[in-house]
Amino acid sequence: MIETLSKNIFLYASQSKTMNRAAKKWGLRFGASQVVAGETIESAVKAVKSLNDKGLVCTVDHLGEFVSSREEATEATEYCIWTLDRIAESGVHCNLSLKLTQLGLDIDQRFCFNNMRRILDTAAKHRNFVRIDMEDYSHCQMTLDLLKELRQEYENVGTVIQSYLYRALQDVKDLKGVPLRLVKGAYKESPEVAYQEKAKVDENFMTIIKEHLLSGSYTAIATHDHNIIAKVTDFVKEKGISPDQFEFQMLYGFRKELQIRLAEEGYTMRVYIPFGNDWFGYFMRRLAERPQNVAFALKGMFSR
Ligand code: FDA
Repeated sequence: MIETLSKNIFLYASQSKTMNRAAKKWGLRFGASQVVAGETIESAVKAVKSLNDKGLVCTVDHLGEFVSSREEATEATEYCIWTLDRIAESGVHCNLSLKLTQLGLDIDQRFCFNNMRRILDTAAKHRNFVRIDMEDYSHCQMTLDLLKELRQEYENVGTVIQSYLYRALQDVKDLKGVPLRLVKGAYKESPEVAYQEKAKVDENFMTIIKEHLLSGSYTAIATHDHNIIAKVTDFVKEKGISPDQFEFQMLYGFRKELQIRLAEEGYTMRVYIPFGNDWFGYFMRRLAERPQNVAFALKGMFSR
């Protein structure tokens, strides 16, 4: 009951434009620096270098919420291009994650598509890869439509499928051959479109992971759940699936020992590193996911 209440409060806060706007001026607060690698690309590159030194690869995400003008979307596009250039210049082992709403998906889908093409041209020049994060259900179909169109021209792009959605298995089947990140799902969705019980979400998570792996497609399993990770490592061993066909992914600041252990065991472990001054919504969604993260954040507040 208290868990559901706190989850809803954090999810509500994550959607507040006023709070997001205010937080941009505060600098990283409330322990957010534990899970967001600073406000600049330089701080993100520093975090990537340090993780690369420990045998982990990375993906960076320049945080940005509530983009409502073409100017903001163009600025976000330029920032993605610049980030890809900085990754290449610094020689780190890292790709890029982004959200289509940052690039103008809600403003004009053609405009967003063209922004993506500019980013993917830059990524291709650097032989790098771009992952389109999946947002809430209202953007799901648009994201998949745009991805499929981009895939006709570019191989260096993939997206994310959320196992809480009833449609997830069909989407994974439709996207055979596309590099997918599979997750449980981070937004509040209605029972009309998404499983509400954790057990069902977990069960469907394993179903879609197995489906994508067995189809021979490159699969990123993004979770902090050790039970799921154990099931995946058992499954790949049983089926003789090569470690080159998949990777594990976790968020920056979470389960650091487990990240290192998986890398030491020979698995590719990719850390998702968010950075930028628009950190509030991301931070609230992480608090909503796991009430224990509140204690984690409070600890961060006092250890700064
Ligand atoms: P979950 O939160 O279900 O926890 C399961 C169990 O794992 C817990 O009961 C606990 O035992 C253990 N556990 C979890 N976290 C722990 C911790 N910090 N410390 C110790 N034990 C812990 N979502 C989305 O909608 N779109 C997207 O594009 C992405 N992208 C993305 C990228 C990456 C790299 C990750 C890791 C996640 C996402 N997500 C996402 C978020 C995802 O959908 C999901 O909300 C979170 O990962 C939380 O679910 P988990 O599978 O991690 O475990």
